[in-house]
Amino acid sequence: MVKTEKKWWKDTVVYQIYPRSFQDSNGDGIGDIRGIIQRLPYLEELGVGALWLSPVCRSPQDDNGYDISDYQDIDPMFGTLDDMEELIQKAKECGIRIIMDLVLNHTSDEHRWFREARKSKDNPYHDYYVWRDGKESKLPNDMESVFGGPAWEWVPELGQYYFHQFSVKQPDLNWENPKVRREIYDMILWWMDKGVGGFRLDVIDQIAKEPDLKITNNGPRLHEFIRELSKETFQKGDLITVGEAWGADTERAKLYSNPDGSEFSMVFQFEHIGLDQQEGKTKWDLSPLPFVKLKKTLAKWQTELAGQGWNSLFWNNHDLPRIVSRWGNDGKYRVESAKMLASVLHGMQGTPYIYQGEELGMTNVHFDDISQYKDIETLHMYEERMEEGYSEEEVMASIYAKGRDNARTPMQWDESRHAGFTKGTPWIAVNPNYREINAAREMADPDSVFRYYQKLIRLRKEYPVFADGVFSLLLEEDEQIFAYTRTDEESELLVWANFTDRPAQCTWPEEWKEAEVLLSNYDSSMKANELRPYETVMMIRTLQ
Ligand code: NOJ
Repeated sequence: MVKTEKKWWKDTVVYQIYPRSFQDSNGDGIGDIRGIIQRLPYLEELGVGALWLSPVCRSPQDDNGYDISDYQDIDPMFGTLDDMEELIQKAKECGIRIIMDLVLNHTSDEHRWFREARKSKDNPYHDYYVWRDGKESKLPNDMESVFGGPAWEWVPELGQYYFHQFSVKQPDLNWENPKVRREIYDMILWWMDKGVGGFRLDVIDQIAKEPDLKITNNGPRLHEFIRELSKETFQKGDLITVGEAWGADTERAKLYSNPDGSEFSMVFQFEHIGLDQQEGKTKWDLSPLPFVKLKKTLAKWQTELAGQGWNSLFWNNHDLPRIVSRWGNDGKYRVESAKMLASVLHGMQGTPYIYQGEELGMTNVHFDDISQYKDIETLHMYEERMEEGYSEEEVMASIYAKGRDNARTPMQWDESRHAGFTKGTPWIAVNPNYREINAAREMADPDSVFRYYQKLIRLRKEYPVFADGVFSLLLEEDEQIFAYTRTDEESELLVWANFTDRPAQCTWPEEWKEAEVLLSNYDSSMKANELRPYETVMMIRTLQ
């Protein structure tokens, strides 16, 4: 059996905060760092060991902070550097580390470097970005940006185009330039000095782009750049580092998360997340989840990374719809299915991530009018598809299912106005279901989704098999049941789950009949040969 080297982040659970939607402390309708400080007792009670904060650095907020104009300052909307230092300190006192979101593929066009860069071709900062000569009406090539429209923006004063994989306000940094890399390393070391516990690396697989070859991710120098980055910075501390990599397969993931620590602690890859879209199309082109494929995909990652890499386990983040609405049931079985999804995820090998509100079983939102949506990606897609002749109904259906604002409505704290998120007017409306789904209510209920997550987090700390156990998928072809075991030298864990709203027939494996139940989501005892809708049971047995 392969034993992985034990690191603290293998037994911990990371909680992702989208600061603008978490807790507002000053009534301006936007969440802030002081709001996070106020909520530390809640997070401590949940039991998470690290908080990943979506970007809080200074930014014009064209892409909600993923367009940074100063890496070494906090956006006034979120507070001050002093607030950030206080958060790092206070979180530490609760045994929680702060993970910052590093957006290194691009900056804002309002970053000092870019303002200089566009002044002239011989400005020392010009080469910090990716430029191509050209003519106004003739783009260097037909590459498109992720948010729609060409990936090239014309700057008439220079007679050049700059390259942007995301919005025009997010010019790509030129990683080929060693000066850019050095500036980045110094900035990271500065944050490490402030006591930051780790970093999440935004779209890191896109830094080594080669626009002339139309290569966006997995460019030829990608791992060379990452290894240098890691050596110059992360390896000088005991950090958790996680690389966002949409384009990773298992082979590449082993490089990103090599146990020798040469790149990152772990990879955050999306193969399972893209399964409910039409083949070869975009996420907006909906298709039912192929359940057996989901199991096989997750199982493949479990098996192939065992002992050779480390995965992040997630259903949600700030770019994804709410999992209970997506692959669970946000009506009658909301609570049961939220717990089932939690068990299936947290029982696997890797570091689990909880996205704010997931621990309450928060759901997608259905705004009636497009003007209530705020996300740049959603608004671009809406415009584009309406122009292309899609019906309003079809476009809205895609937004309801996949829009990023599903994850970005404010955290639902209690029953008071705006769910206790703000005393002002929230920057985006609160999901109207907050009176039913909120933290206060769930903390008072021993059977809530919150209490279930809390138990899962505790179990991971208590039983080494969660981190170390070898994964084995059971009932591979079953259309309803997700079942697997995790086995180490002393014990075996079983996760057994019905992924549907119908009863599922099953035969309990003989050796599990007397085993200890660690966690389940129905209160009465299990039925002999059947799993009820979304029923899940987690069991453990000692091996002789
Ligand atoms: C990935 C982030 O998660 C997303 O929110 C952002 O829009 C893009 N990277 C661009 O930075």
